[in-house]
Amino acid sequence: MKYICTAILLFTFAGFFPLASADEDEFPFALQINGRQASMFLYRYNLGLLGSMAKGSTPYDAQIATEAAHNLLSVANMKNSTMWPAGSDIDAPGLANRTEAKANIWANFEDMGNKHQALTENLTKMSLVAGDGVEAIRANIGSVAKACKACHEQYRLEDED
Ligand code: HEC
Repeated sequence: MKYICTAILLFTFAGFFPLASADEDEFPFALQINGRQASMFLYRYNLGLLGSMAKGSTPYDAQIATEAAHNLLSVANMKNSTMWPAGSDIDAPGLANRTEAKANIWANFEDMGNKHQALTENLTKMSLVAGDGVEAIRANIGSVAKACKACHEQYRLEDED
């Protein structure tokens, strides 16, 4: 019984402090960098769902398409300014392999904001029509992907996705 209680306690604490113990979180600005990369990953995941329908690799499904488009817009509407602290770029000490954020972001924060705004506008359009059929996705996915790329080209080390 004692062991079971200990196990439950450990499990509970691990659940409460999931970010405090893992090795991969021990670098400067780990929470902020992980946070912003997670939001980018949500973009990739949801855009991937729309992309594979647009290509025809998965059958069009109006509900999934609508969900994915709304998820993308929801991520874009999050207020994530605290995830981009100055000094959390690839040239900062200890961050070379932890982030792909270029240092020029902080000298061009307004421009980065405009690029984010352009993406948000494209995602708003997508979310209004994604349930109307695969053609509507095909008509809008290019401008969404371009808006991702426009920011990556300037402010991300490599644009692989
Ligand atoms: C306003 C600028 C901007 C926009 C718009 C943008 N990104 Fe990013 N993205 C970045 C930056 C900067 C990074 C590097 C973040 C880091 O490593 O700290 C990044 C990183 C990523 C990553 C890698 C995340 C990781 O785990 O390392 C993916 C995937 C990604 N973006 C996908 C997308 C997709 C898909 C879109 C469009 C739906 C998008 N991004 C729109 C700036 C942007």
